[in-house]
Amino acid sequence: MTLNKELINKIITVTSKAAISCHKFIGKNKKNDTDKAATDTMRNELNKIPVNAEIVIGEGELDEAPMLYIGEKLGYGGNLDLDIAVDPVEGTNFVAKNLPGALSVISVAEKGNLFNAPETYMDKIAVSNKIPYEATDLDFSLEKNIKNIADSLNKDFKDITACVLDRPRHKKIINKLKEMNVKMKLISDGDVSGALMVTDDKYNVDIFLGIGGGPEGVLAASAIDAYKCKFQGRFIFDNDKDIARAKRMGIKDLNKKYDLKEIIKGDSIFCATGITSGDLVKGVDLKDNNYITETLVTHKSSNTCEIVRIEDTI
Ligand code: FBP
Repeated sequence: MTLNKELINKIITVTSKAAISCHKFIGKNKKNDTDKAATDTMRNELNKIPVNAEIVIGEGELDEAPMLYIGEKLGYGGNLDLDIAVDPVEGTNFVAKNLPGALSVISVAEKGNLFNAPETYMDKIAVSNKIPYEATDLDFSLEKNIKNIADSLNKDFKDITACVLDRPRHKKIINKLKEMNVKMKLISDGDVSGALMVTDDKYNVDIFLGIGGGPEGVLAASAIDAYKCKFQGRFIFDNDKDIARAKRMGIKDLNKKYDLKEIIKGDSIFCATGITSGDLVKGVDLKDNNYITETLVTHKSSNTCEIVRIEDTI
């Protein structure tokens, strides 16, 4: 088996069932229960697939989390060796508070092809493929990135949209965007979705930028690769514990800027199933004893970027 249609369908089942397991917790303000349900379900479902998979991005390290920890081996064996990144619930607040945009997310690549990201923050940019790759850079000033985007699209600053996580740490960015009269899409959580807003004109976002989770950055990068958009990230190691962990993981240059091709190589599958409805996909729906889910699926080698709806009986 390669990363073929059969495997794609199995991975869709994994995120779909994980999303369904969260349905009963929507609006119940039970973040830990939600996360546990999705994590347990993902683990059970991944273990039904005939592959040798290893979690490279998961729910923490062995000593911190009992399930889907980094290094955990999954699958019941076979000829295909995989690296897997998971975020069983991306947007736990959204589920707890019954707000739009919670997802259950997985990314899959062949062994050695998915970056083993530490659980630190990451400074990121993601940019639409309408803009030449060299026109933007994590190291350019905000003004330069916005100006180059505006020039490439032949638009005024006022018609450019930047998506940013609404956090105090982004005060400077937000103030500068305001000063430049750039339109903002300020998200309260869920920066995997935020980064994916650059992949399609229908979301009206030209650039996503700012600091969010490193694992979320890698997950978003794998889908962004399939859409041929731009992604760059730099991990932020600002305390001794994170620095020591990065060194243990073999990261030598703590200040390195990672380009998409260093984060995800070769073929990949990305699946994000909606738990609550959001910009990307609808949330889990319960109708006549059937759960209906929507999953955004990308598969790089077949140029697949589509939304798949499936029904699952209770
Ligand atoms: P969780 O679902 O794990 O709570 O993550 C939500 C999220 O908004 C991510 O999408 C984002 O990368 C991260 O939290 C940002 O972290 P913080 O809330 O500390 O700014």
